[in-house]
Amino acid sequence: MASQLRSCVRGVGAALPAHVVTNDELARKVDTSDEWIRQRSGIAQRYVAGEGETTSTLATRAAEAALRNAGLEAGDIDLIVVGTSTPDYTFPATATQVQANLGITHGVAFDLQAVCSGFVFAVATADKFLRSGSNKRALVIGAETFSRILDWNDRTTCVLFGDGAGAIVLEAQESDGAFLSPGVISARLRSDGRHRAKLFVDGGPSTTQTVGHLRMEGKEVFRHAVGMVTDVIHGCLADAGCDAKAIDWFVPHQANRRIIDASADKLGIPREKVVVTVDQHGNTSAASIPLALDIAVKDGRIKKGDLVMIEAMGGGFTWGAALIRW
Ligand code: ACO
Repeated sequence: MASQLRSCVRGVGAALPAHVVTNDELARKVDTSDEWIRQRSGIAQRYVAGEGETTSTLATRAAEAALRNAGLEAGDIDLIVVGTSTPDYTFPATATQVQANLGITHGVAFDLQAVCSGFVFAVATADKFLRSGSNKRALVIGAETFSRILDWNDRTTCVLFGDGAGAIVLEAQESDGAFLSPGVISARLRSDGRHRAKLFVDGGPSTTQTVGHLRMEGKEVFRHAVGMVTDVIHGCLADAGCDAKAIDWFVPHQANRRIIDASADKLGIPREKVVVTVDQHGNTSAASIPLALDIAVKDGRIKKGDLVMIEAMGGGFTWGAALIRW
């Protein structure tokens, strides 16, 4: 096979706020219960950013951890893509703040806004930059502080989300392009803006001049989620010329245990191959997949050579999947 460039994972890292909020603690402030939250979502606790903790500080800590894990210096990076819907400021991009925090003055850094699909979109985007040869090494980050856009009086949404950040380092490497060779093998992205009202934030610079709060028709999101994600996963598998049985680890966006289980069942992926962290983190939007990857790599589940499927669906709607040989 002719030589080509592939985007290979060199390292992974994560960062969580210091403060944990359990369901019981939440139930003292909001009319809810540990039992309701666990049964409907699988969530037991979430991390909530405190004073001085912002999306860019969490993203920077995750990036530093990923660089250490990769055995690289900040100066080795020439592309930073941050998936986030909760930037520190309307502008500049959180990615440029991360770039400055890391002391990088070359290359390019930008944000990508695809809500909970942000990390999958960021991986697919960085992959195109790296495969084109324009950039050599990317920090791909998902970072969020959703606690700051929640309506803490709305029990139907505030119990579901949390804060955090995760990052991977992707490096352009010569590859024979074989199915067993490392790197991003395939990626599929989709969006359909007709679904805006089902999951959105009711404020913004050009409309209300406020930040706004998250609004969600939970049942409607649930109704669409499984079909949409399984669709792009089948697309990724078809592009790679394999079926779901080839997947070693399924690392879905961690929104809701019931959506994760239903998607895995529909794909015929056994539960022991599914990485689940929603119980610990809640829904951290664009951060949920790299947070889950960090846990599964560090506890020894995901190993070099494993085939990993990541997938997500979020506001917009946006949805996507990527198949990565670790
Ligand atoms: N605590 C206690 N009771 C509650 C709470 C709460 N926190 N929230 C709602 N309820 C009540 C409702 O008022 C309702 O009461 P009623 O029957 O007296 O009217 C009852 O619980 C049932 O509410 P439903 O909305 O029907 O509950 P459902 O089983 O649909 O579960 C949930 C709600 C968890 C939001 C579910 O619809 C869901 O998971 N949807 C997908 C949401 C999601 O994953 N979003 C993120 C994906 S995209 C992204 O990540 C941004």
